[in-house]
Order: sequence, then C-alpha cells, then structure tokens
Amino acid sequence: MNIGIIGIGNMGYALSVALSKKKVDIINVYDRSSYKIPKFKNIIRADSLASLMKNSDVIFVAVKPADAEKLFEEISFNAKGKTIVSLVALYPYAKISQQIPSAKICKIMSSIAVETRKAPVLAYCSKEIFEDLKELLKRLGDPYLTDEKVVDALVPIVGSGPALFAYFLDSLSQYIVLAGIEKDVADRIVSLMAYSTSNYIIKNNIDFHALIKKVTTPSGITIKILQEFDKRTIKGNIVDSIYSKMENYLKS
Ligand SMILES: NC(=O)c1ccc[n+]([C@@H]2O[C@H](COP(=O)([O-])OP(=O)(O)OC[C@H]3O[C@@H](n4cnc5c(N)ncnc54)[C@H](OP(=O)(O)O)[C@@H]3O)[C@@H](O)[C@H]2O)c1
Repeated sequence: MNIGIIGIGNMGYALSVALSKKKVDIINVYDRSSYKIPKFKNIIRADSLASLMKNSDVIFVAVKPADAEKLFEEISFNAKGKTIVSLVALYPYAKISQQIPSAKICKIMSSIAVETRKAPVLAYCSKEIFEDLKELLKRLGDPYLTDEKVVDALVPIVGSGPALFAYFLDSLSQYIVLAGIEKDVADRIVSLMAYSTSNYIIKNNIDFHALIKKVTTPSGITIKILQEFDKRTIKGNIVDSIYSKMENYLKS
C-alpha cells in the first residue's frame, strides 16, 4: 500500500513511525517546513504536495486546524478515488467532504502515543470506509468506529490525554523529588508505575474502583491519601477543568 502523511510535526512524525513498521508499504511524507523523519527505508520524502498525492492511496492529514482549510482545498484537485484520513482536531467531517467530494473521508482522533502502536483510535466515517482502513488503523492501536460527536468530545482524553496524564505524573514525580530523589530517577519510577499499572488494568480487565479496592487497606496510607484528594475535590476539579473547556463543543 502507498500511504501519505501531510504535516510531519509531532503527530505526523509519530504516525510515520507506527505506519512504517510494515516494510512492504511505502510511506510518502511531506511538510512545508524542514522536518525530521525516522530512519526507515520505506519512508520517502515527497518533493511536493502534488507528488505525495499522486503516489499515495491513503493520505493522513496532520496539520494544525488553522492550516487545514487551505490544505484541504489544495489537495482536493488530486484526490479523486483516494482516502483522506484527517487527524485535525474538531474540524467538521461535513466540511472536509464538501471540500474534497471526490475522495473517501475518515476523521480520526488519536495521540502521539500511536508511536507505541497501542493508542486508542476513534474514527468517524462510513462502515465501509472504516472496514477498508481497519487493518491500517490497527497499526496505531485499537480503532473504534463511533459518532463524530464522540470523536470531538473525546479530544481532551484521546488526543490531549498524554499531556494531561504527564501533568498528573509530574506531580507524583515532584513528591519523589521532595523525598530526596533526583528528578530523572523520579520520572522513570513514576513512568514505570504508570506503565505497569495500565498494563495490569488491561491484562486483568479490571475497573478502576476494583483496582483501588485491591490496593487500599482499611485505615492504611492509600485510603488516607485518597480521602485527602476527595477533601480537596481533586477529581471534581479535574473533570470540571476539562468540561469547562469543552462545554461549547459538547452543546453544539
Ligand atoms: N500533537 C498532538 O498530540 C496531537 C494529538 C491529536 C491530534 N493532533 C492533531 O494533529 C494535527 C497536527 O498537530 P501537531 O501537534 O503535530 O502540529 P505540528 O507539530 O505543528 O505539525 C504540523 C506540521 O504541519 C506543517 N504544515 C502546515 N501546513 C502545511 C501544508 N499546507 N503542507 C505541508 N505541511 C504543512 C507545519 O509546518 P509549519 O511549521 O510551517 O507550520 C508543521 O510542521 C493537529 O490538527 C492536531 O489537532 C495532534
């Protein structure tokens, strides 16, 4: 398969790593600025947007929302019969379809963690297009076909999630530094704790409350800390912070 990626910034780079694992595929990449690519033989720099479009069957678009409208207009002339997969957060599906009527369109949301090939991938498109893309999207993680409203509503969790998670992990790491450990060691310990915990949850298919119950001893340190979190309404504040920034999108 010939795959294209337009926009090799944070998201496009991670996509190129994940998608290039299958060596029989060619990954054509293009960015208007200077850009780095992973050192895999099947990743090829396209000379121009037009040549990327000509040589690719499925094209991932990973430019910022402010650049997307112009870009979709530009590629619409070379898109006949191609599949365009947009990662542009909160950019309406109907608008892409209107701009590129000759292509099959799929709107997805995931994160830079696709590089691990274990990220959630939310998709909105027809069932037929989704089935055609499914094996490709599986290279990024677990694909889910869903409504556009869900794809948009979950941008803060699926797309921004790694940053929100890192913010929380950084506070745990800061505590370790206060306890007298170097920051790089603290970060590594916290990352390993988070990684092993996520694996444990997925491997055992256990819900978050059941996990908390397993770790918590009555009147022990864990429940005392969680009680302090509740007193300071940490959970409520996290949910409110996300909701307040997404309220307008969720209502529209
Ligand atoms: N970063 C994430 O974690 C994440 C997660 C989920 C979804 N996304 C989505 O992914 C998209 C990209 O985000 P990002 O963080 O990767 O942005 P980024 O790091 O700024 O990368 C975008 C790249 O696209 C280039 N570009 C812009 N217009 C172009 C055009 N017409 N032709 C070729 N290249 C063009 C930019 O060049 P210039 O530097 O010249 O502008 C830049 O190098 C966004 O729509 C975002 O919503 C990102």
